[in-house]
Amino acid sequence: MIIAMDGPAASGKGTLARAVARHYGLNYLDTGSMYRMVAVGVLRAGGKPDDVQLATHAALTLDPSEYDDADLRTAEAGAAASIVAAFPTVRAAILDAQRDFALAPPGAVLDGRDIGTVVCPDADVKLYVSASSQVRANRRHAELLARGEDISFDQVHADLVKRDAQDANRKASPLKPAEDAHLLDTSDLSIETAFECAIAIIDAALNKKT
Ligand code: C5P
Repeated sequence: MIIAMDGPAASGKGTLARAVARHYGLNYLDTGSMYRMVAVGVLRAGGKPDDVQLATHAALTLDPSEYDDADLRTAEAGAAASIVAAFPTVRAAILDAQRDFALAPPGAVLDGRDIGTVVCPDADVKLYVSASSQVRANRRHAELLARGEDISFDQVHADLVKRDAQDANRKASPLKPAEDAHLLDTSDLSIETAFECAIAIIDAALNKKT
């Protein structure tokens, strides 16, 4: 079973995807971490994220053991990830690893921007998780403050809006709902309610298939 969860930054898809994977006993892959890792690799090499050669090299030499590195979660890494993610060579370098992960038993939940449209177009269920930019910026601001970053709400909101536009308007695998995705707006939902809604959508979609 493969479940695709796409959506903009801080929409709640990561928390939901992890909980959904646990619920169905599936593997879980946060594909955003892969792009963040590429970006951090470029920055650590002293480069800029718009350097396509450095970014492609970082993508070809990704080390999955580093996906939990705290440096990946900073606002700087998120912004840089959105820049390296626009390069088709970077996306091509990690596409097979994402597909292999999805196909490994017992199946997986993958979250990202293009899982339902490009990485796993045949996923059993696709969810597109969204929320208003105010709500998303609030969530991300609280997360960054908890990690010790000194950043204002307005800065976080401006960064999110900019990142959404970059992700949605790029040519390579832009952020958009797959035609057959189920939409879930978490703006007014608690984590628990969003999880219950996601499970109801997934169970109904799976029942329909059988
Ligand atoms: O989800 P997260 O905020 O960690 O993603 C960081 C960036 O990685 C996104 O802004 C996006 O540009 C890129 N990304 C992508 N495709 C994915 C996952 C993330 O382009 N499947």
